Parts: sequence; C-alpha cells; structure tokens
Amino acid sequence: MRDAVGRVQSVLLVGGSSEIGLAIVRGLPRTESAVVCLAGPDRPDMERAADALRHEGVARVEIVDFDACAPGGQAEVVATACADEPDVVIVATGYLGDQQLAERDPEAAARIVDINFRGLVPVLVGIAQRLRSQGHGTLVVMSTVAGERPRLANYTYGAAKAGLDAFTRGLAASLDGSGVRVVVVRPGFVRTRMTAHLKPAPFSTTPDKVAQAVATAIDRGSRIIWVPGILRWVMMVLRHLPESLFRRLPG
Ligand SMILES: NC(=O)c1ccc[n+]([C@@H]2O[C@H](COP(=O)([O-])OP(=O)(O)OC[C@H]3O[C@@H](n4cnc5c(N)ncnc54)[C@H](OP(=O)(O)O)[C@@H]3O)[C@@H](O)[C@H]2O)c1
Repeated sequence: MRDAVGRVQSVLLVGGSSEIGLAIVRGLPRTESAVVCLAGPDRPDMERAADALRHEGVARVEIVDFDACAPGGQAEVVATACADEPDVVIVATGYLGDQQLAERDPEAAARIVDINFRGLVPVLVGIAQRLRSQGHGTLVVMSTVAGERPRLANYTYGAAKAGLDAFTRGLAASLDGSGVRVVVVRPGFVRTRMTAHLKPAPFSTTPDKVAQAVATAIDRGSRIIWVPGILRWVMMVLRHLPESLFRRLPG
C-alpha cells in the first residue's frame, strides 16, 4: 500500500532488465524500505539491474525467472512476483525481432507474437486477479504507437502490440470499481538497446522522458498516454490516411 504521501512500498517490473522499465521504477517516489521485484528471462542482466538499484538505495530487490515463450508456469511466476503486494506493476517485456526474418521463418514470427502478446496474457490475467484481491495498485503496460497502424518495417511486432494494447484496455474496463488502475503507455521511438541499431524516428525520446510521463499519468489517473504527447495527434492523422498514401511514408 502506498504511504500517506503516495510513495510506493512495493514495485514489480515484468521485463526486469528493460531500460524503459527500470527508468520508470527509478522515477517513482518510494519509501526507504521499498522492495522492487524484477521478473525476466536473463538472470545476469537482472542481477546487474538489482545491484544498481540497491546501490541507489532500494532496500530489497527480488529476482524472479520469467520467459514469455516458456509453456506453463505463469501462475507460479505471478504468485512469487506478487508476494510483496505490489503498489505498481510495470509490464515492459518486449521484443522487436527481425521483420524480414519473420517473413521467411514462421517460428521467428511466432516468437515476436509470443513475447509481445501471447506469453503476456496469462501473466496479465494473474496480476489483475492479484491486484483485484488486494483492492489497490496500478498496472502500467508498455504498448507502442507501432500498434496503431502496421508498418512494413515491423508489422509483426506492431500487430502483437496492438493485441496487447486491446487486451489491456479490456482488462482495465474489467477492473473498474476494484480500486485498481491501469495505464497504457504508447511511446514512439525510444533510444534504448532495443532500437540501438535503428535510425531514430521523428519525435524520438528517452527512457527518462517516458518515466516522467508515466509518473505523471499515475498521479493524474490517466488511462492512455502517448510519449511524447504530440504523437496522440500525429497518430490520429496517420490512422486515417488512405492505405496507398500511408505505404509511401518513409520508414
Ligand atoms: N525502445 C522503444 O523504442 C520502444 C518504443 C515503444 C514501446 N517500447 C516497449 O517498451 C518496453 C520496454 O522496451 P525497452 O526499450 O526498455 O527494451 P529492452 O531494454 O530490450 O527491454 C525489453 C525487456 O523484455 C525482456 N524480454 C525479451 N524477451 C523475453 C522473453 N522471452 N520473456 C520475457 N521477457 C523477455 C527483455 O529481457 P532480456 O534482458 O532477457 O532481453 C527486457 O527485459 C517493451 O515492451 C517495448 O516493446 C519500446
């Protein structure tokens, strides 16, 4: 439960090594005794993140193994990861993949869908149940503007994220009145290791900017945010462009 001045006592980051996810964790006001749980597939990556968080004063950091492609076991992952009754859960798992490879290799395409959508659904259902029974908490889910309209360069990723975005909005509606809030985050291009091999797109931003926007959204009770905010209006226009025009856009 957040304390009297709104500081979090417990945070769960699914995608425990995510650059954006960790920036969001760092951007949340927390108590001196706060606990952070990191859940993800790569222990060494998460151990490094945990060491950094401890160094910055986080009292306790827990690590839980979670691979979105592994069949079964999600109930145990959720039970362990939610043991400290998280005030904020951030789902920052994501995988851009290689779109050209995904066009030749069905397994590569399925992997993109598994990590960004299919493998997250049971975890989201489990987390929502836990938060509902707590009667409080905020669930932050990392979507993307790429889910708004598929682009040739990354349409498998965009399609999977569109599924995640739609599912999360439905889940949010199902949580109305439970005391649990949900924030869907739709950033544009964020400069992280996920995009390090790509030329920055217009309106590119940083993990810290995303973290600031998420902290504000949690304070204000916003349901959907674009980062930067101008992308809300850019996407409103792009969404309605005729397909023939849209396909001619660069990138
Ligand atoms: N960067 C951008 O431009 C951008 C824009 C819009 C939205 N987003 C979204 O923001 C979120 C965070 O992205 P980021 O930029 O911080 O990228 P990141 O640092 O690569 O984080 C992605 C996270 O997903 C985890 N992951 C990868 N494969 C997994 C699997 N099989 N099972 C479970 N977890 C797995 C990664 O773990 P490992 O350490 O093992 O790889 C990592 O913790 C993602 O959902 C991404 O789609 C990013």
